[in-house]
Amino acid sequence: MAVQFADATPDSIAVHVIDEQDLAQWANQQQPMTKAWVEANGFQGALHQALIVPAQYGSPLMALAGYGNAASRKRGRFHLAGAAAKFPEGVYHIASGIADEHMPQEALGWLLQSYRFDRYKSASIMTAHLVAPDGVDADEITALAIGEMLTRDLINTPASDMGPPQLEQAARDLAKEFGAAIDVIVGADLLTQNFPMIHTVGRAADRAPRLIDMRWGKSGPTLTLVGKGVCFDTGGLNIKPGASMGLMKKDMGGSAAVLGLAHMIMATNQKIKLRVLIPAVENSISANAFRPQDILTSRKGLTVEINNTDAEGRLVLADALALADEEKPDLIISMATLTGAARVAVGPDLAPYFTDDPQLAKALETAAETHADPVWRLPFHNPYETMIEPGIADLDNAPKGGFAGCITAALFLRRFVTNTPRYMHFDIYGWQPNAAPARAKGGVGQATRALFQALKTAL
Ligand code: BES
Ligand code: ZN
Ligand code: ZN
Repeated sequence: MAVQFADATPDSIAVHVIDEQDLAQWANQQQPMTKAWVEANGFQGALHQALIVPAQYGSPLMALAGYGNAASRKRGRFHLAGAAAKFPEGVYHIASGIADEHMPQEALGWLLQSYRFDRYKSASIMTAHLVAPDGVDADEITALAIGEMLTRDLINTPASDMGPPQLEQAARDLAKEFGAAIDVIVGADLLTQNFPMIHTVGRAADRAPRLIDMRWGKSGPTLTLVGKGVCFDTGGLNIKPGASMGLMKKDMGGSAAVLGLAHMIMATNQKIKLRVLIPAVENSISANAFRPQDILTSRKGLTVEINNTDAEGRLVLADALALADEEKPDLIISMATLTGAARVAVGPDLAPYFTDDPQLAKALETAAETHADPVWRLPFHNPYETMIEPGIADLDNAPKGGFAGCITAALFLRRFVTNTPRYMHFDIYGWQPNAAPARAKGGVGQATRALFQALKTAL
């Protein structure tokens, strides 16, 4: 699928984006025929409404995209995409109605609207193409769209075709494209190289657990991204009920998000020394599965009492975070579909995140707001540390009662980052439950575009 803006052409169709409040005035300035056509077709400028105005012989003279009003726009994002989805085949350019500061998001939305997951069944493609608007960074927007689509494809691919080996292959493909170095530790080598918890969680699966380690970039600050790559989460011996297991192909959403973000960083050649770590496992059930009450010794040396085999994400991330922390990068960011509690707290659309660094939080929130990628800060609440301390080991992977489940999970992870000056953790959902403009139902990146922008100034 080629994701790109159309080449400029003299006969591209002009798109006028119209706020309902401005419609009457706009119509009064048009040819009488245009005005009559707009009225006859009931175009009112409602959000996502689309209308082609024909020239005398039926070819399109212009396209209209309803832009609703300030209140209706606040209820969503990528509004132009909602109308563009309805435009017929052709090449379009934006002629009026979008403020300069919103242009990059609306242009990105148009590209994202063309996303299809067609690996298993062909889907009708979007045939309305946009010429890059003047003044936007078309290369950057294209890189963001491709990165996001990579994330979506990885999440949407079912575990039957996206196990640890295939996730490794996806990382290898990405590394090859950008000349990144990649090293993968597989199976029993995880034990000899001291990644005991990654091995323990993944050992019951048919496809061997592994740690993917990719490096790119020669200059700039050092950034390590760590993504949860649980290719399927049955819950282990504490097996999930069917309804909860139903979506668990997406439990590698954190790894899909960091690979998408890595694409964005590498394709736009950011001055960053990047490292991406992905513990890739399946949380499966077999005779050698780990058990409740087992006590694991982590890479860092901290012991962990297993009180629920379904709290596996924090275990594999802990060993990867410990490795990341050993070389003290400037910043470590983890991304994971870590807890159901995060969903209960903020639902599917907001990405909760944790950091002790107020400057980073501020940069992220600004970027999230201006780049239509919402996040919400939750606290690393120190008084809850006691909740992750059981009697006979250093840490408990599943505190009883479940109070503040996403905070206790975040505190657990933070125990493994003790040398690095700045750490940020995202507990994402990675799934769009219903289709919305530029966001098809299914796998979706969260916080990646906000992070991409924030890192430009805050790293
Ligand atoms: N992968 C799940 C978390 C999850 C569930 C993310 C639903 C998104 C949607 C994770 O491995 C898990 O099962 N966590 C448990 C932890 C608990 C046992 C402490 C949870 O959240 O219930
Ligand atoms: Zn789980
Ligand atoms: Zn999980």
